Amino acid sequence: MRYFSLGEVPAKRHQQFRENGTLLVEEVLGYEGFSGNESILYHLHSPCRLDDVGAFTPIVREEWVPDTHVHRLADTRPIDAGGDPVAGRRLLMWNGDIEVWVAKPDAAMKGYYRNGEGDEVVYVHRGSGVLRTVFGRLEYREKDYVVIPRGTTHRWEPADGEQHWLVFHTPGEIETPNRYRNRYGQLLEHAPYSQRDFHGPAELETVEDEGTFDVTVRVRDGFQRYVLDRHPFDVVGWDGYVYPYTFNAMDFEPRAGRFHLPPPAHQTFQGPNFVICTFAPRMLDWDETAVPLPYHHSNIQSEEVMFYADGDYAARKGVDVGCITLHPSGLPHGPQPGAVEKALGAKSTDELAVMWDTFRPLKLSTVWREVDNPAYAYSWNEDKSAPAESSSNGSAPVVTGPSA
Ligand SMILES: [Fe+2]
Repeated sequence: MRYFSLGEVPAKRHQQFRENGTLLVEEVLGYEGFSGNESILYHLHSPCRLDDVGAFTPIVREEWVPDTHVHRLADTRPIDAGGDPVAGRRLLMWNGDIEVWVAKPDAAMKGYYRNGEGDEVVYVHRGSGVLRTVFGRLEYREKDYVVIPRGTTHRWEPADGEQHWLVFHTPGEIETPNRYRNRYGQLLEHAPYSQRDFHGPAELETVEDEGTFDVTVRVRDGFQRYVLDRHPFDVVGWDGYVYPYTFNAMDFEPRAGRFHLPPPAHQTFQGPNFVICTFAPRMLDWDETAVPLPYHHSNIQSEEVMFYADGDYAARKGVDVGCITLHPSGLPHGPQPGAVEKALGAKSTDELAVMWDTFRPLKLSTVWREVDNPAYAYSWNEDKSAPAESSSNGSAPVVTGPSA
């Protein structure tokens, strides 16, 4: 990220800095001890100040261990994930590097939240609103990735209407890929986006208020509740490289070639042992002999998960906007029978998809089991393309070809 600043900060670090005669409290919020990126915030009161300590609630993950190892398709639309923007989230899959939750908040958030053990990326499939944070106010809209560094006290205030998010949590850092940056950190000319596409908080909201404020902090694989008697957004200024920001998937400048390019061409973020990619609407491979769909591939070292975010999937029976495919490690996958012939000569695609590849196996939750479509595993067999009796939604997917 680039250097950013909002509000008032003193000329020098660690210098006396007063507001109406009161000495402000300086807080350095940084990664990797004092060796990573950091921001410095100036509070009206100590951020350590507690009024009461509430309960600690461990995270309970209900794992579904399928009987078989096959390609999977699930539909996130029927998932009941309403309620609070944080407490209402439902876990879909996870490993030690990443968790993926579905959220469809339909109730006001109770208090404030801070992830104390990981970075979060929220992909906003449906909805818009405001994320209020200790760094300031950040508006979000459909197709935004909202990146929230650990340590950011915040509060989601969704607008009226449907909200449907994918929430990624990682104990590592969410970063732009190293190969997109020069040695100073600036995004390079060949990167599929520039610093102009990343939007930090628009304005600082400093609240000097006494009362009762619930702050829930994710720590040690659980949620610790605290009660403050001062408003947590008491920052009068900050500067640095750590802050929440948005990046809209439609600002990803897609890459295409004379012949097919592999998924790394679509990479958007990197984390420890995983990547997040954006398959944005784009021109397709233009050589007249090109095959514009992916070749079959065996990701023998990764799990490949694709969320179908937008576009016309009418030709993809069984796969629609809101669905997710999981192509796990150890198995080849590629376009379904007939898909390549149909795609020959196509000039462009309007599909938008969000993909995450993990290098370590993923566990599935019982939430996935609720929306799993077992017919998908047979969708490469034309003789079994009739609706399967065991299918949860009665339709066997004959997919013209996933993006990757
Ligand atoms: Fe793939």
